[in-house]
Amino acid sequence: MEFFFTSIARSITKLSSYAILLVLLFSCSIFTSTEAYDSLDPEGNITIKWDVMSWTPDGYVAVVTMFNFQQYRHIQAPGWSLGWTWAKKEVIWSMMGGQTTEQGDCSRYKGNTPHCCKKDPLVVDLLPGTPYNQQIANCCKGGVINSWVQDPANAASSFQVSVGGSGTTNKTVKLPKNFTLRAPGPGYTCGPAKIVKPTKFTTADQRRVTQALMTWNVTCTYSQFLAQKTPTCCVSLSSFYNDTIVSCPTCTCGCQNNLTHPGSCVDPNNPYLASVVQSPGKNSYQPLVQCTSHMCPIRVHWHVKLNYKDYWRVKITITNFNYRMNYTQWNLVVQHPNFDNLTQIFSFNYKSLTPYAAINDTAMLWGVKFYNDLLSQAGPLGNVQSELLFRKDKATFTFDKGWAFPRRIYFNGDNCVMPPPDAYPWLPNASSRPIVSLLYSILTILAASVIVLAYA
Ligand SMILES: *[C@@H]1O[C@H](CO)[C@@H](O)[C@H](O)[C@H]1NC(C)=O
Ligand SMILES: *[C@@H]1O[C@H](CO)[C@@H](O)[C@H](O)[C@H]1NC(C)=O
Ligand SMILES: *[C@@H]1O[C@H](CO)[C@@H](O)[C@H](O)[C@H]1NC(C)=O
Ligand SMILES: *[C@@H]1O[C@H](CO)[C@@H](O)[C@H](O)[C@H]1NC(C)=O
Ligand SMILES: *[C@@H]1O[C@H](CO)[C@@H](O)[C@H](O)[C@H]1NC(C)=O
Ligand SMILES: *[C@@H]1O[C@H](CO)[C@@H](O)[C@H](O)[C@H]1NC(C)=O
Ligand SMILES: *[C@@H]1O[C@H](CO)[C@@H](O)[C@H](O)[C@H]1NC(C)=O
Ligand SMILES: *[C@@H]1O[C@H](CO)[C@@H](O)[C@H](O)[C@H]1NC(C)=O
Ligand SMILES: *[C@@H]1O[C@H](CO)[C@@H](O)[C@H](O)[C@H]1NC(C)=O
Repeated sequence: MEFFFTSIARSITKLSSYAILLVLLFSCSIFTSTEAYDSLDPEGNITIKWDVMSWTPDGYVAVVTMFNFQQYRHIQAPGWSLGWTWAKKEVIWSMMGGQTTEQGDCSRYKGNTPHCCKKDPLVVDLLPGTPYNQQIANCCKGGVINSWVQDPANAASSFQVSVGGSGTTNKTVKLPKNFTLRAPGPGYTCGPAKIVKPTKFTTADQRRVTQALMTWNVTCTYSQFLAQKTPTCCVSLSSFYNDTIVSCPTCTCGCQNNLTHPGSCVDPNNPYLASVVQSPGKNSYQPLVQCTSHMCPIRVHWHVKLNYKDYWRVKITITNFNYRMNYTQWNLVVQHPNFDNLTQIFSFNYKSLTPYAAINDTAMLWGVKFYNDLLSQAGPLGNVQSELLFRKDKATFTFDKGWAFPRRIYFNGDNCVMPPPDAYPWLPNASSRPIVSLLYSILTILAASVIVLAYA
């Protein structure tokens, strides 16, 4: 009799794990097909605002500000570049806090030469240490913009342009078109400029409010699909209850190929490591990774470390395998159902990303300033670690069926590839369960099939 029940339990458990697998696969495919829309940051965007501050005899002076309204996606060195196409025959007479990358053909101007005569100028930020008389507020950070959650005070970047050859009133001026934002690679798509209510500015002493003569906004949104075809990050798993270390799926971010692409990765034991790393590649922002089976620049490891009566503990390690990148202001977004009862986090900052939603399961984690906010290039220092302490909710907590592992992880806003769910470390003797768990399995199957039906 007992044998009978166990074997039923066994086959039902198997079935239910297939059902869970199915659901996971379904949600994965849904996730990839709508990647331009980020369900964890649905409103996320970069808004570019042009404030016309004064009209000039042949144009205007405007302050252009980019606000990063994304919760966890930032722009790191070498920074943003912003391009557009002029609607008429405009030129840029001068700039502060930024510059165009090319001047273009200004030969039709005698005497006073403009800063840029191109029809499609490309603007970049100035570097830190720019002389004060060329700076404006929020400029000169080498194009670095922090994310809204991590550092709202540094989530904007500004420059000033003096434009000639344009309209000189709010009726005659034509808005620039075809905005492009690179950060520094592709990924952002910008909409058309729209005239909005003029911005109001409050003086520092709060005693007077002034306003722009005219304002227009451009909104740019990010899509990981546009940004790159291959992933850049993967997840590995381990637990105290099983010796298996589930490593990142092989070839997640590329394959080692010594025949067709010699030097596609670097062997850490190579005696000439330093010179290989320093040799300037074709594109020095292309990652140069350590040879691993996954070939990803970033690996996030989730270790289920300890089990207490009322709590359980996880250790997270982020490892950098890229010899060409120090990740400044890195961040991680992690989805796990127990984040609604996170009790303590060591040596990382934490913010709940969905604090008011019915399912409060998503956390943003990032480094502590001057301690571990820099994830150093590949090598002995190229990792950061933290431990999380969760309070068990008796109704949901289990080490069974991979529940203790994360559902989704982003590094710097890009999705990290997880191992397949059937490879997760198992609980020892996971097949012999009490009747309660049999009931649980049946419920799970029911719930899963309802979900599958809903998706279908
Ligand atoms: C851009 O983000 C801001 C701040 O979250 C939001 O108010 C605005 O609606 C967003 N714009 C678009 C077009 O999504
Ligand atoms: C242009 O300026 C006039 C006042 O000079 C104002 O009434 C009008 O609303 C402005 N139009 C726009 C589009 O800003
Ligand atoms: C918009 O910009 C892109 C890239 O700079 C260019 O390829 C395209 O032709 C431009 N479109 C128009 C209508 O100017
Ligand atoms: C225009 O951009 C500014 C700053 O990003 C924002 O505060 C404002 O709400 C935007 N206006 C519209 C209509 O989107
Ligand atoms: C490529 O080189 C790495 C290290 O140099 C080595 O471990 C790996 O086996 C090689 N792969 C092939 C296909 O030769
Ligand atoms: C990373 O930072 C270290 C220490 O500041 C520096 O020596 C190294 O050159 C940097 N690496 C890169 C790729 O920028
Ligand atoms: C969500 O979780 C965070 C962290 O545990 C907590 O501070 C917050 O109050 C929770 N929100 C709700 C609505 O439960
Ligand atoms: C876990 O969090 C949820 C929602 O915030 C709360 O209702 C529940 O009581 C918490 N459980 C424990 C054991 O603290
Ligand atoms: C550990 O988990 C693996 C699956 O990743 C499983 O094959 C193995 O049997 C488990 N070990 C024990 C002792 O349960």
